[in-house]
Amino acid sequence: MCGIVGYVGTNQATPFLIEGLTKLEYRGYDSAGIAVFDGEKIIVEKSVGRLASLKEKIAGHVPQGLIGIGHTRWATHGRPSDLNAHPHTDCSGDFVVVHNGIIENYLSLKEKLIKKGHVFKSETDTEVIAHLLEELYKGDFEAAVREVLKRIDGSYSLVFMSRNDPDKLICTKQDNPLVIGLGDGENFIASDIPAIITRTRRTYILNDGEVAVVKKDSVWITDREGIPVTKKIFEVNWNAEAAEKGGYEHFMLKEIHEQPKAVRNTMSPRIAKDGASIVMSELKWTREYLDSFEKIFIVACGTAYHAGLVGKYYIEKLTRIPVEVDIASEFRYRSPIINDRTLMMVVSQSGETSDTLAALKESKRLGARTLAITNVVGSSIAREADQVIYTWAGPEIAVASTKAYTTQLITMFMLAVYMAGIKETLAPERTRELIACLREIPAQISEALEDVEPIKTFAKEYGFNEDVFFIGRSLDYDVAMEGALKLKEISYIHAESYAAGELKHGTLALIVEGIPVIALATQKSVYEKTLSNIKEVKARDAIVIGIAAQDDNELEKYVDHVIKVPQTDELLIPILAVIPLQLLAYYAAITRGCDVDKPRNLAKSVTVE
Ligand code: F6R
Repeated sequence: MCGIVGYVGTNQATPFLIEGLTKLEYRGYDSAGIAVFDGEKIIVEKSVGRLASLKEKIAGHVPQGLIGIGHTRWATHGRPSDLNAHPHTDCSGDFVVVHNGIIENYLSLKEKLIKKGHVFKSETDTEVIAHLLEELYKGDFEAAVREVLKRIDGSYSLVFMSRNDPDKLICTKQDNPLVIGLGDGENFIASDIPAIITRTRRTYILNDGEVAVVKKDSVWITDREGIPVTKKIFEVNWNAEAAEKGGYEHFMLKEIHEQPKAVRNTMSPRIAKDGASIVMSELKWTREYLDSFEKIFIVACGTAYHAGLVGKYYIEKLTRIPVEVDIASEFRYRSPIINDRTLMMVVSQSGETSDTLAALKESKRLGARTLAITNVVGSSIAREADQVIYTWAGPEIAVASTKAYTTQLITMFMLAVYMAGIKETLAPERTRELIACLREIPAQISEALEDVEPIKTFAKEYGFNEDVFFIGRSLDYDVAMEGALKLKEISYIHAESYAAGELKHGTLALIVEGIPVIALATQKSVYEKTLSNIKEVKARDAIVIGIAAQDDNELEKYVDHVIKVPQTDELLIPILAVIPLQLLAYYAAITRGCDVDKPRNLAKSVTVE
């Protein structure tokens, strides 16, 4: 996720560009830049760090001009730096582009362009677009942009500016948002409405594949082939604060709803076109490399630790390599057995959690080879680890982690399939089957998100209970842990997760009449066993809400309510089963009047031990 803006009109462009980017900083904030045409040439100013650094950099020599574009970055390809910040230019400096998204085929395009003599300045995927435009430009800016679009694969929203046509900006989108604000003698472009809401409320919301030529007094929209599109003006009637949250009441709810897109971003660049394998171009592991490990450690905190537990299951099941999972704050103090035959994986959304970072450093000191799974490019953990896999979930603002968890699960799953491919521990047909299921996940998350009314009702009905239990076996137990953590941290309800089979060894004493028990029963391999445990709590008059797969017609006979999630492979169902639990936590917190995005005593990033 990044934020992009554009301006063309009769006023100075820079003030709007900076104002718009300020409103979009929630979309990314590791570097920022603007490009303005000053009547002769395009001036580009960029700076690593938050927007404040860019403002400081241009203070005293603010670029002057009536047309410009800007960008606030959330790095995906290439660490945060001045050079990797957008806008990106071609070799001549005549074309500039800002981009939000991922160009999946950038490496092959880059190779071809380098062979043709293009010189690249950054490590980004975006820069290929500027050079491609230069390569394809034959005197018609718009035609060249259309040619570029034919050659790039991936997700994007893009704004182009050219020194040869300084009266227009061209913008387009595929799977990422873009809105055009209609002013009086001026027009605006932005990733999101908050950037333009103080300037105009009259907008066009672009659809995938539409291309808009935006001048100061006209907006001409066509489809990718150039056929004109008639669009309705969308009048924005939200206030600025609601607009920043995309119309949602809280960032947490917005991020819950961003999951289909976030997991698509995580997975789609890493699935081979023929659907037969997972491609981890960031790793390039070999059989020899994998065979050199006796053991893998996964170390993390909180929600990331819960993702690690699922990761252990995936890796052990699919590759038969032993995996140990540990809480980062415990790991260092128990003399872990680590050596040069250990692969240490740390999982961290922020990449800054100090316990996780310390565990990573300790394992390096002991000789382990290290891999980070993180969401933040250039974070301390990303820099410290030997290798990194980015989850590409976009910034997570709410303290309670949601899209980070599901994208970590997707990453772990893909990593396990990738490793199994190298070790030849997974049959090709099974690999295809799993990848086919994986591809369905974004749409299935959307489906699970639609089933919200019963969850709101449960939250109202049980939201004032002081104790809730979450039970499950196998992968269901791992998800139960995450469900309980979500409920605790934002609604302050005492929630305990238990391995369903372990209840009878003590905890069953706490199960009394009316206690809500959320029972996950999505794992067919342990289904009958879980059912017995559900009967045990039902016999003590607990109120049981079951979470089951769509094809389950059995569970409803034994529980008070059932929430069904779409059918998928047993391995992938945790990614769907967690959705109702996230929603339940959210609506329980709302019922209790809690500050969802800023729960008491908690911080988004824990940089103290
Ligand atoms: C819970 C939550 C925390 C984090 C934990 C680790 O919703 O967000 O438990 O998962 O603090 O943070 P990262 O992943 O940034 O290392």
